[in-house]
Amino acid sequence: MAIIKQTLPLYQQVYQDILSRIQSAEWKSGDKLPSVRTLARERGIHRLTVLKAYQLLMNDDWVYVKDKSGYYVGSQRQYHFTDHSNPIVHSLVQKNHLSEIHQADVTFQFSKALIDPALLPNQFFSNYVKDIFDKYPKVLSTYAPLEGDFELCTYLAQFFHEKHTLPVNPEQILITSGAQQAIHLIAEAFISSKDVILMERPCYGAAMGAFRQQGASIIPVDIFQSGYDLSQIESYMKEYKPKLFYCNPTFHNPAGYTIPDEQRKQLVDLAKDYQCFIVEDDAFYDMYFDEEPPHPIYKYDTDGYVIYIRGFSKYIAPGLRIAAITCHPNIKKDLLSIRSLIDNGSPLLTQKIFLHYFQSERMRQHIEKLRIALQIRKETMEFELRKTSWKWVSPSGGFNLWVECPSSISIEKLLKECLDASISFVPGSVCDPKNEMNHYLRLSYSYNNEGQIHEGMKRLISIAEGMS
Ligand SMILES: Cc1ncc(COP(=O)(O)O)c(C=O)c1O
Repeated sequence: MAIIKQTLPLYQQVYQDILSRIQSAEWKSGDKLPSVRTLARERGIHRLTVLKAYQLLMNDDWVYVKDKSGYYVGSQRQYHFTDHSNPIVHSLVQKNHLSEIHQADVTFQFSKALIDPALLPNQFFSNYVKDIFDKYPKVLSTYAPLEGDFELCTYLAQFFHEKHTLPVNPEQILITSGAQQAIHLIAEAFISSKDVILMERPCYGAAMGAFRQQGASIIPVDIFQSGYDLSQIESYMKEYKPKLFYCNPTFHNPAGYTIPDEQRKQLVDLAKDYQCFIVEDDAFYDMYFDEEPPHPIYKYDTDGYVIYIRGFSKYIAPGLRIAAITCHPNIKKDLLSIRSLIDNGSPLLTQKIFLHYFQSERMRQHIEKLRIALQIRKETMEFELRKTSWKWVSPSGGFNLWVECPSSISIEKLLKECLDASISFVPGSVCDPKNEMNHYLRLSYSYNNEGQIHEGMKRLISIAEGMS
């Protein structure tokens, strides 16, 4: 039998090397580590490779970074590697910090960007599910096609065309179990440890995890209220030849910004010029307060450079977890190959329930009410925040406020004390590819009612002010 020799990718070799020196106590807690430049020079490797190893070490809490000073050995980890009763000493699984925070069972839930279940038409859903069984008596007796229920794909193609004039036919659509699965599929199908990708800074943390899990090197792209600095994106595309740019241009999570229409077209031109895919994650499109946002970037794509993910789980019926990928048929083919290895497609029942609810007048009325309810909740949170000197840009849609606190407040300590007081939020560093943004927090206003928001915010602010 042939033995296949497996060589670790370079960045993992660097990771393992640094880790073993920490574990052997050669480098101790608090010690400054060699700079990226020094390590790269010593080993004759690219700086991005060292950077990636340091990013992984930070993710696993072995290393932390100090502003403008460099990397240091962390103190949080227990060195339990001498415990031979546990043979699993290290896995290559990326930690999902967001899901860890979400697991906290708290009264004032400002960390989950989820709709309050009380705002959804629950009674209607339960009657409605019975109708689906009448209409499709065999719905539980068969698998759905791998790409998704044909009736649903056909309806969505027509919907995208009518609403956004998107050039889509049903063969370009792939139904996934939520937008997170769509991101994961794309990462698995197209990204390996040799690839560089662009991501916004700040960004949606679980997407970062999915791309890191594949070993991608991430280059952060700044996002501002006015949009991107396109010359920055162009220079990164030119210099680093990224495989893709993952972006969330509409009611961005966490910053809340929306990229203006004129930049959307220019971005597609850059993608074509530099052969870089754009993965457009559109999870909040319908959650606007006043004006409808610009059409998706995908609208401007004529050559197959944009992979569009439209998420519906956030506000239609979260329990169904339905999203759709729309892309060039060749890309879809690759995504389907990966999908067949994961779960062989989304359940038919959830797709049928979604289709009929999505077509209904009831859904339209529900979305309108939801927008009003969310806007009131956002304003309630802002009312409390206005009593502080903290800074934020009021978003015109979405679920989150991205808040900058004075540097005298340690967000890590604040989170700990808040969790003890049954309040949760997302610390900014979780949303930063550089693991910095230590003075920011993401506060979601979608899950708690106005009374809870007033009370929870008063408590959170009082804890923070006690620290400064
Ligand atoms: C930008 C963004 N993309 C994707 C997701 C995941 O969505 P889903 O619940 O449909 O998997 C989220 C969830 O918060 C999100 O904020």
